[in-house]
Amino acid sequence: MPVWANVFIRFYSLISLERRKTQADKNLLLLQSHHFLSMDPLQFGGDDPGAVTLGNFINYYEFHPPEERLNLLPDNLLLDRLNRPYVFLDIGCNTGALTTRLYEKLLPSIKSKDSCLESSENTCHMLGIDIDPVLIERAHGLNTHADRITFACLDFMSERNNEVFTQHLSQCGGRFDVIFCFSVCMWIHLNHGDDGLKRFLQDISDMAKIIVIEPQPWKCYKSAVKRLKRCHKTFPLFQNLTIREQVEQFIEDFLVTKCFFTKIHESLETKWGRKLLIFKQNQDTGR
Ligand SMILES: C[S@@+](CC[C@H](N)C(=O)[O-])C[C@H]1O[C@@H](n2cnc3c(N)ncnc32)[C@H](O)[C@@H]1O
Repeated sequence: MPVWANVFIRFYSLISLERRKTQADKNLLLLQSHHFLSMDPLQFGGDDPGAVTLGNFINYYEFHPPEERLNLLPDNLLLDRLNRPYVFLDIGCNTGALTTRLYEKLLPSIKSKDSCLESSENTCHMLGIDIDPVLIERAHGLNTHADRITFACLDFMSERNNEVFTQHLSQCGGRFDVIFCFSVCMWIHLNHGDDGLKRFLQDISDMAKIIVIEPQPWKCYKSAVKRLKRCHKTFPLFQNLTIREQVEQFIEDFLVTKCFFTKIHESLETKWGRKLLIFKQNQDTGR
């Protein structure tokens, strides 16, 4: 990326953040000034911040605010009455805006549902992971619930056994109460192929009681490829993908038939033409 483009993008981020002026934004502003000075580049192609290979868009929440998706999420389906704090995992959390809003949305429902959890401070813990260290550094800077939300830089596809997971899983009997996968499957699929997508689905179903997934339809793949092509880059595995037009159906069928989950909810479409699907582990699998 040319230096002028990096400077422009960082300058634009600073200005737009300044407009909002929350404490969290001010923290981020400090962080970004640091990045601005050290010029460590976020990974995108040419001068187009949309041309990314991992979905690690900068300023993602400027054009895809969390609220629309949160409004489509029925809390009551995610919360079983428990006598211990809930432990949630958000895979591909970007700068953590959706993770944080999820925590804030679920907290009151948990508190009202689970009056036997005496300490209101100790009702749930959220782990957000992302492969991009710069995004995670931003998430740390913006974290207004640092005692309850942990952000970690991890590649889910290669660090599944990382001790951050082990630690969190030990608090919830070996399975997260809910794993959230918002707009991340396509990036796993594009970078790890059909087998990678299957492994991802198998892994999340081994680690979760409930899965919330927002699959990207095939048209998003085509846009991602096109954006990269404009700066003369490709996804090397793209041509080999055999799961294509029906990718959303494939994900659903795989979770149901191979991973023994049941679909318990399908939302209306977002403005971006995506749905939120909720799957629950079958009780009788003994897994
Ligand atoms: C399009 S963004 C979605 C952000 C957020 N989940 C949302 O929907 O608001 C996809 C995110 O997934 C992350 N990501 C891609 N591959 C990943 C991997 N193997 N492990 C962890 N995070 C990954 C990217 O860095 C990016 O922040």
